[in-house]
Formats: sequence, structure tokens, C-alpha cells
Amino acid sequence: MVSQGGALEAASSTALISTDPPYYDNIGYSDLSDFFYVWLRRTLRDIYPDLLGTMLVPKAEELVANPYRHGGKEGAKDFFEDGFRKVFARARQSALPDFPITVYYAFKQSESSEAGETSTGWETLLEGMIRSGWSITATWPVRSELSNRMIASDTNALASSIVLALRPRPDDAPTTDRAGFIAALQAELPDALRKLQQGGIAPVDLPQAAIGPGMAVFSRYAKVVEASGQPMSVHSALARINEILDQVLNEQEGDFDATTRFALAWYRQHGYTTGQFGDADNLARARNTSVAAMDRDEILTSRAGKVALVRPADTDAGYDVTTDEHTSAWEVLHHVIRSVQSETEGVGPAGELLARAAARPNGPVDPDLVKELAFLLFSIAEKNGWTADALAFNTIATSWPDVTAAARSVPARSEPVQGVFDFSEEE
Ligand SMILES: C[S@@+](CC[C@H](N)C(=O)[O-])C[C@H]1O[C@@H](n2cnc3c(N)ncnc32)[C@H](O)[C@@H]1O
Repeated sequence: MVSQGGALEAASSTALISTDPPYYDNIGYSDLSDFFYVWLRRTLRDIYPDLLGTMLVPKAEELVANPYRHGGKEGAKDFFEDGFRKVFARARQSALPDFPITVYYAFKQSESSEAGETSTGWETLLEGMIRSGWSITATWPVRSELSNRMIASDTNALASSIVLALRPRPDDAPTTDRAGFIAALQAELPDALRKLQQGGIAPVDLPQAAIGPGMAVFSRYAKVVEASGQPMSVHSALARINEILDQVLNEQEGDFDATTRFALAWYRQHGYTTGQFGDADNLARARNTSVAAMDRDEILTSRAGKVALVRPADTDAGYDVTTDEHTSAWEVLHHVIRSVQSETEGVGPAGELLARAAARPNGPVDPDLVKELAFLLFSIAEKNGWTADALAFNTIATSWPDVTAAARSVPARSEPVQGVFDFSEEE
């Protein structure tokens, strides 16, 4: 059944809610509608007398922040936020326990804070939903609206919309303190993030997607009490979630081999530019490896006291991962990137390389770890403003399903294969 009505009435019914609510003063829907409405009314009033009964479209109930209607900017903001909270509080009263409700939120680039992921409007809306008795259990970035916005922008572009999944928080939900909240984040976020990384999420969207599991922890409590006795704000909770996200990404470094850990540390300081041999030597020794060995392995170049990591494009196209005595997640990732970017190769040979790396008799390389490395490198490149690098790491992570599909079609054998390749699965 289709029926038209105000949000407050609709929220009172037992319908399952999926809503794309207005956002402050983004669009003056009703004023815009009048432009068309007056003509529609003339032609269709006899057919839809109920819909077209009024001279103009309804204005008073419209949930937008309109300074002309609500006594200035402050009044408009209060009207919008109040109305928003009322709708979610009403919906909470008639919530279905077995189903989440979904809320679409159009994220505007311009409202990103310095941290890149939050905005005050966004925080106010999250706060409104949580205070109305909802738990936010997921935040999922979606590429919606105009796709050219994404293509035109660089890697800092976030997905244009976010879907929030909300479930009713039980009335007897527990309270915790700051330490309890942080401990719960530390216990739950690593696993949740790994699942996001192994799933289809792009590195550029990870911080947004990570808000979901973080907010799920925060909003499961009736209240998180700060040392001051005040309830923790969404703003503060988001800051903690971002800290733990960084911490988890850094801790993932511990999973890698010595060469990769060296290269990550060096990359963080120098990218692919040169640094002093002495610094590289210290870093390498601390990780039980040596500059000379990594020079031989073509991870880096060490010439006349200067050291630089080898860029993916400069790695050797004839590289054979099966016969290489010593390889690393770093080396495999760089060769996979070169292969995908190369005009003569592509995902087929890249997948083959990945499959052969995983099947190495002396020291296999786990493809999941290679993908994790791409996420980690993306976050380092992005924080440093190395846009071209960030783009390359984001692209390889989003191409991963194609590369692994190609890897799966490689026959399992340990001797070098360089034969005909079956591309049929990718078509
Ligand atoms: C972000 S838009 C939804 C756009 C829609 N998803 C689409 O793609 O066309 C928000 C909508 O909420 C409507 N709206 C504003 N206040 C409302 C209220 N109190 N009750 C119901 N709808 C309202 C606006 O008229 C507008 O159409």
C-alpha cells in the first residue's frame, strides 16, 4: 500500500522504516515544489482532489531549517533538530524488534573536518538518534547521487552517501565509563576492521565504515560516563573510534615479515623518495634485516649513501616469485600493482603472481596479508597527502576481487608456470 503523510505520523505506524531524511537547509523542498505544484494543481485537481486540495504545498510541518520560517538561523536549526529527534523517538516507540531501520545520509565533502571523517551536523544527527533510544549497528558508505562527483575528485573523495542501520536499544541497556568503552572498542574493532578490509570496502571508505562497529559499541550503552560525570558526546566517541582505528592499523604491522615492516617504517618517513643510508641501516637492524639484502632483493636501491624504496612501476617485469629465494608481502604487493598497471599484463598475470606467491614451497605469502598491506599503505599515503600513491593503493584494493578471481583460475602446482592463461572467469 502506498500512502502519503508527514514523517511524524508515518513513524507512529508499525511499518518498517527506510528513510532519506532532509538535512538542515540543504534544499528548500516545499518552495521548490510550489513552482510545479501550481501547474499540477490546475491540471490534476479533479483527478486527485485530496492531494491537490491546498493552494500551495504544506510548509509548517516541513522538516527543514528555514531561517525565514523559524525566526532566524538559530530557531531554524532548533526546529530541524527538534523535529528530527521527535520523529526518531516516535519511531523508537513502535520499533520492530526483529528488523533494523535504515537511514540514508548524504555526506557533503565540504563538511569534512580536519580529521576528514566527521562534521558537526553529522554528529548532531547521530546524537539525536542515539538519545532517542536507538543503537547504530552499521554505517555503510554508498556511491550514490552524481557519479561524476566521485570521478572528478581525487582519492580524498568520500562515498557520497552513508546508510545507517539502527536497532532499538533495550530499555535496560547498561551504562559504562570511558575505560569500559575503550576496552570494548579495543576488543571488538580489530576483528570488525579486518572483516571490512577482507570484504569489498575501498581503503578510502574504511574510516567511514569503521564508524559503524565503533558506534555499535558506543550506542549499545544507555550512557558512557566521562570522568567528569558527564555523558560522553558523539564527538568524543568518534575521536576515540578514530584513535583505535589508527592503533589497529598500526598493530597490523606486527603481522608482517621483517622486510615489509622495514619498508613500511621507511615509507612512512620518506615515501619513495631518498633518505640517508645510516637511518635505513638502523631501521633495518632493528627489524633483523639488512639494507644490502633488501638492495639485492630489489626492495630498495642503496647508492652513494642514499636509500630509496623501489616504486611498483620500477620493479622487474621478469620477476619470478616461485624461484625467488626470499620474498615478502611488500614485494608481492609491488609486483601485483605493477602487473595490474602494466599495459601488457593486467589482472590475469597479477592473479597468477598472487597464486604462485601463496603456493611458494619456501615461505608462502598470504594474499589476505598483501591486501591488508594495501590498506595500511593507503592510510599512510593519504595522511601524508601523497595523492598518486594513495590512488594506486586504493585502486589495487578495490581491484582485489578481480585479481583473486584470476588467482583462483591458476592451476595448483608449485613449479613455475608461464603458459596459456584462462581468462574466461573474468568475462
Ligand atoms: C533527501 S529528500 C529525499 C529524496 C528522495 N530519496 C529522492 O531520491 O527523491 C527528503 C524528503 O523529505 C521530505 N520531507 C520534509 N519534511 C517532511 C516531513 N515532515 N514529513 C515527510 N516528509 C518530509 C522532503 O519534501 C523531501 O522530499
